[in-house]
Amino acid sequence: MRLAIKEALKGKANTYPNPRVGAIVVMDGEIISTGYHKRYGAPHAELMAIKKINNDISGATLFVTLEPCLHYGKTNPCTEIINPKIFSKVVIGSRDPNKDAAGGMEKLLQKGISVEGPICENECRKINKRFFTYYEKKRPYVILKIALTLDGFIAEKNGTSKWITNAKSRKSVHTLRANCDAILVGNRTIEYDNPSLTSHGVGKDPKIILFSQNNIDTKTKKVYEHNPIVLNKGENNLDPKKNVDEILKHLYSKSIQTLLVEGGGITISHFLKADCFDELHVYYAPKLLGKGLSFFHGKNSLEQNMGLTLKKVEKFDNDIKLTYYKK
Ligand SMILES: NC(=O)c1ccc[n+]([C@@H]2O[C@H](COP(=O)([O-])OP(=O)(O)OC[C@H]3O[C@@H](n4cnc5c(N)ncnc54)[C@H](OP(=O)(O)O)[C@@H]3O)[C@@H](O)[C@H]2O)c1
Repeated sequence: MRLAIKEALKGKANTYPNPRVGAIVVMDGEIISTGYHKRYGAPHAELMAIKKINNDISGATLFVTLEPCLHYGKTNPCTEIINPKIFSKVVIGSRDPNKDAAGGMEKLLQKGISVEGPICENECRKINKRFFTYYEKKRPYVILKIALTLDGFIAEKNGTSKWITNAKSRKSVHTLRANCDAILVGNRTIEYDNPSLTSHGVGKDPKIILFSQNNIDTKTKKVYEHNPIVLNKGENNLDPKKNVDEILKHLYSKSIQTLLVEGGGITISHFLKADCFDELHVYYAPKLLGKGLSFFHGKNSLEQNMGLTLKKVEKFDNDIKLTYYKK
């Protein structure tokens, strides 16, 4: 199964909205074929592995990181191509959380194939964190991203924030955007920065999500060139917890699997205070302001805090990036 996971990891973000999946065919203790899901619309991992084997064999075992699907989408159900004359056993790494595709395990048993698993389940789930969060929690996977001076400010007191970080850091943000389905920023950020919120040609552009704005001249703001989804604040509850829940529910219904929230501080604080996020990405630049706009508007104590785990440290010349996961 660990080899099947390695196969799955060959698939990159362009499998979205499908998960990354790897498959291995074993016969008499030897691997005779491998396959992975390359991109959305392309054959699934099972087919990629099965089409390379000789149809005369029997008693083979298929290892697959996710339960074979049971639905007609861009391709036929994977359970259809798993032939009991060839396969006596299928070992799965995780069950499919998508109700429309799940049930493959039962179907294989009906076909007389023995099914084992899930095995290495945590590892198999880890490679598709966004997919599992979307289907199990019924909300997008949420990444909060902020750029800070060394003394923790997001902008000068007058709202100027261009630029805190260097060009290399900003390029890495463009890649992050290309790997997310949607991007949200607060109204004051639109007003002060007039950002484009695109991936600047690095990859696909995320869908732009905005709060409705009364005082902003929308004709002069770049984000309106990209047909954004505008959240009607009239429908939003004032309690930040409920408000964030509502926003995420709405984006779930729009099939947004990963949401990137890029500030400013007020907007990010709503997600932090509601405890509704999965990753926090912090860029630090070696600049000091003394006075400025804050990143966090909550009231935590040293004892009662966010439960963050440091997952990655990256260096972009003089800047550093810290990636935290929510426990
Ligand atoms: N360093 C960085 O990484 C970074 C990133 C982005 C922005 N910035 C800087 O940050 C500053 C702006 O940040 P900010 O903290 O002042 O404001 P902000 O977060 O950009 O915008 C806050 C406004 O957005 C709307 N909003 C946010 N969350 C909402 C929610 N849950 N429900 C309804 N409406 C919501 C509200 O608009 P209304 O007031 O209209 O109700 C709120 O006042 C700018 O100076 C910008 O340059 C820095």
